[in-house]
Amino acid sequence: MTQEIYLTGITTTGTPHIGNYVGAIRPSIAASKDPGKQNYYFLADFHALAKNEDPDLISQSTLEIAAAWLALGMDTKNSVFYRQSDIPEIPELTWILTSMTAKGLMNRAHSYKAAVQANIDSDNKDPDKGITMALYSYPILMAADILMFKATKVPVGRDQKQHVEMARDIAQRFNHHYGDILVLPEPVIDEHTAVLAGLDGRKMSKSYGNTIPLFAPEKAFRKLIMKIKTNSLEPGEPKEIEGSTLYEIYKAFATPEETAAVEKQYAEGIGWGVMKQQLFEYINDHVAPARQEYDRLIADPSLVEAELQKGAARAREVATPYMDQIRRAIGIRSLGAMS
Ligand code: TRP
Repeated sequence: MTQEIYLTGITTTGTPHIGNYVGAIRPSIAASKDPGKQNYYFLADFHALAKNEDPDLISQSTLEIAAAWLALGMDTKNSVFYRQSDIPEIPELTWILTSMTAKGLMNRAHSYKAAVQANIDSDNKDPDKGITMALYSYPILMAADILMFKATKVPVGRDQKQHVEMARDIAQRFNHHYGDILVLPEPVIDEHTAVLAGLDGRKMSKSYGNTIPLFAPEKAFRKLIMKIKTNSLEPGEPKEIEGSTLYEIYKAFATPEETAAVEKQYAEGIGWGVMKQQLFEYINDHVAPARQEYDRLIADPSLVEAELQKGAARAREVATPYMDQIRRAIGIRSLGAMS
């Protein structure tokens, strides 16, 4: 059996928060160290353009996300860690795939349909109001990310599953037309990864403004944890773990034994203030060493840049010859040369 190739992208539109950490960063970093796995991780900064038009935010987010992944121990020897925009073959492949993509397929993308629906719901005359071609063709760029490296497994959140399926459809159509060149990917959805609630109890997400940045300075970090919503039960009154954001976050970081101890404290009526302080201390201890490394990297972005350049060189060792093969197959060839 051929070896599986794992690939996943992170859109650079925000500051990494503890929800990203438990849901995506932590499992990816663990996988990056697995010598039995071939992994590609990249910063999807071209994708970020479809969501955000603030240049400083895009570059700051690229730095913060790269620094966070490196500080947390991403193994850049065993896996390839790079920035999408450093690989010119990706936009090149995007265009080639665009010519193999049915417009109707893009019409069916959930994210595009949701944007159209939002326009209809707010009685806009133009259902495509505010929708860029980047948003519309987003899945084709994503298909190029995946197909460029012959990825067979693509770990993503549920919301991205359809995009991976579209990459597969596009690859199939390409192969049908040009021969067996692209590798068909499969989405991998981990049903067990924790989804954290944010400060207000809704899912922790940048779009709700309820996040706790993973590497907020200690004081700010504590302040945010003190803001997490609880109910009004007094100290001494037994509390439910179900629906308790404090409990959920604790559990996402702690061992099963430590979690069981907190369950007991809940039953015994731990006060919310005490629980918050306990949660703060626990996570703070957990992230403090990486935070120090993160601060060092943020203060010297050239260190991060150097890592990304190394990653890009390795990625292009794969992308450049493969792109040559793809070009020849589609008839973009040096004249006079043999196919
Ligand atoms: N679209 C993905 C997201 O928003 C990020 C992404 C871009 C990606 N390219 C990818 C994920 C390729 C997996 C594979 O989460």
